[in-house]
Amino acid sequence: MSENKVWFITGTSSGFGRALAEEVLAKGDRVVATARKPEVLQDLVEKYRETARAVKLDVTNMEDAKSAVREAVKEFGRIDVLVNNAGYALVGATEEVSDEQIKQQFDTNVFGVINVTREALPVLREQKSGHVVNIGSVVGFSAWASLGIYSATKFALEGLSEALAAELAPLGIKTTIVEPGPFDTGGVDRAVFAENLLPEAYPSTAQLPEVFREFSNTAGDPVKAVKIIVEAVESENPPFRLPLGLPAFEAIEAKLEQVKQEISIWRARAIETNFDAVVAA
Ligand SMILES: NC(=O)c1ccc[n+]([C@@H]2O[C@H](COP(=O)([O-])OP(=O)(O)OC[C@H]3O[C@@H](n4cnc5c(N)ncnc54)[C@H](OP(=O)(O)O)[C@@H]3O)[C@@H](O)[C@H]2O)c1
Repeated sequence: MSENKVWFITGTSSGFGRALAEEVLAKGDRVVATARKPEVLQDLVEKYRETARAVKLDVTNMEDAKSAVREAVKEFGRIDVLVNNAGYALVGATEEVSDEQIKQQFDTNVFGVINVTREALPVLREQKSGHVVNIGSVVGFSAWASLGIYSATKFALEGLSEALAAELAPLGIKTTIVEPGPFDTGGVDRAVFAENLLPEAYPSTAQLPEVFREFSNTAGDPVKAVKIIVEAVESENPPFRLPLGLPAFEAIEAKLEQVKQEISIWRARAIETNFDAVVAA
């Protein structure tokens, strides 16, 4: 890869996306900072006139994805690191969230990533290099009550990223999925709440704001998080999976142990599913 990488980052108006754009610009890399309202990036573009470009990209809009990738190539000639960061959390039990809310959540968190990645991949393939970094979540590995649809979108990114890693490695393109625990990005304040609350059935939804508030006292520092992401991307052997923060590691480790135990209970019985002729042989 070239000395000064070109980063293409989605959702840079706030949080991780903004912090990552600032981090890589400060170290001299070039950034195509994308946002639904690129005017909010004016200060960044003014500070880094040579190396920053603000481009409109609503990840749910295919035309935006096409033109943003085209603009990146026109401005900087390449894309070294694609960071699929744009996303938000839908809060509510599966029965409480509306069809439209579920659709929007998947359109942004899953189809948005697929749209942008599919537009960028021809550029990376042509270069025979590049790195796709998907911002997943710890709840994409270990789901929470009242965050089921959000968790499902992040589980989808786990599967997509695993497949991408296998598809792209032979082409010289790397893949990483970042799995942050709670970080103080302000993202929880922008979470969308269910439309049809059923508090007697699902007290977990009513409890979530309090859980979020407690988290905000112990949440991770997004500036430290993006420094680790940059370090991982620049390492000789970037990790495929990158949990961030102790709570993420603890939840993932507990889930791995739990799954190991769960599948052992029925193992002996459940593996006897070959046709009798195969078992006899
Ligand atoms: N903070 C955490 O604790 C945490 C933990 C695990 C994972 N994550 C993940 O980290 C990523 C960034 O979240 P954050 O915490 O930094 O929150 P954030 O500050 O709210 O950032 C989310 C970004 O996504 C953008 N976005 C939302 N919908 C979009 C769309 N349709 N098209 C383009 N951009 C869109 C937002 O832009 P607008 O200003 O236009 O809305 C915003 O820039 C998300 O994928 C989130 O799921 C966060």
